[in-house]
Amino acid sequence: MSAATLSPAAPAPTDQDIQGYLATGLRNRWWPILPSRFVEAAGKPVGIVRLGEKLVVWRDAAGVAHVQTDRCPHRSVALSRGVNEGDRLRCIYHGIDIGKDGTVLSVPGQPGCALEGKKAVKTFPAVEVAGAIFVWFGDELHLEPAPFIAPEQLDSDEFSSFLCYADWNASWRYVYDNLMDPMHGTFLHAKSHSMANGDIKAVFATKDHENGFLFEKVGQRDVNFDWSDLIDQSVMFVRLEIPYPKTGGPGGNFGIVAISTPIDDTNSANFFFRFRKLSGWQRDTWRFLYKTVLEPRHWAVLEQDRELMDGCGLGLEKGEMLYQHDAGLIRLRRYLAQQARGQLTDLLKAGKTWPGRA
Ligand SMILES: [Fe+2]
Repeated sequence: MSAATLSPAAPAPTDQDIQGYLATGLRNRWWPILPSRFVEAAGKPVGIVRLGEKLVVWRDAAGVAHVQTDRCPHRSVALSRGVNEGDRLRCIYHGIDIGKDGTVLSVPGQPGCALEGKKAVKTFPAVEVAGAIFVWFGDELHLEPAPFIAPEQLDSDEFSSFLCYADWNASWRYVYDNLMDPMHGTFLHAKSHSMANGDIKAVFATKDHENGFLFEKVGQRDVNFDWSDLIDQSVMFVRLEIPYPKTGGPGGNFGIVAISTPIDDTNSANFFFRFRKLSGWQRDTWRFLYKTVLEPRHWAVLEQDRELMDGCGLGLEKGEMLYQHDAGLIRLRRYLAQQARGQLTDLLKAGKTWPGRA
């Protein structure tokens, strides 16, 4: 082939592009943004930041949750400072009415002006499952959402769950690193109610599956925090299980579906759905025990994680000297970079850009 017939090289994202993009999350996923109970029907709109984007979350008079860009198209001020009229938001600044689909319904100061009728506010697809509002964050090539597939443990009568929610001053990526590191249970949580047992030494193995990979101790199961499963299907989450001591009452292992939603590059909104596979009287017993006895113990464990990560900023990777137990988080980081590289390559090919592009 002569040089003249060579097509120009396909545009490729740089490592800096990839890391910058990942700082505020991976797109083309459903992410939980808030516990459902934080947003009241026909109540005050709630302003939050997720994946680096300012959002307003409000619930109409029928109880349906709506998520939109938190910016009035008139003067760019926060719609979350406005009024929930039951079927629309009214901007506090000049009374502009914004409908559920982002259309400007009325401009009371100048009826008939060109702004009226324009779909000027981005509206995000949203669903509610297991007490949380999930939102589709698509890139420019995926504005239409992929089907929402809930983690099985949150959407089946065979399981019972409680949502534990906490904002942390830590990057979402470090929270996932922590989740893909079962060995810290043996040390950091050694004095907890559920992680006092098992060998303090271990060898780990990784097993790929259709939607992610399992990282597990070789030769120890159902003793301590012995495995983590990264599942990236519609929602990206980590599932893990830890056996309960007798104080946990009857029923199966205690499990967690964990999702750390980026707020910005150094803050995350963390959703820990604590679940158990049980039904009937066992379910009722656990739910009672959880509320009366177990919940503070679980919070104490989670605080141990939060305290380690709180305020750690960015760049931990630069000083790390990892060993075999860290193969799970190494694999995770590589996986996230691959996913981001794929998204950015497609965007570049299509001549599109992305939020925060340098
Ligand atoms: Fe932990």
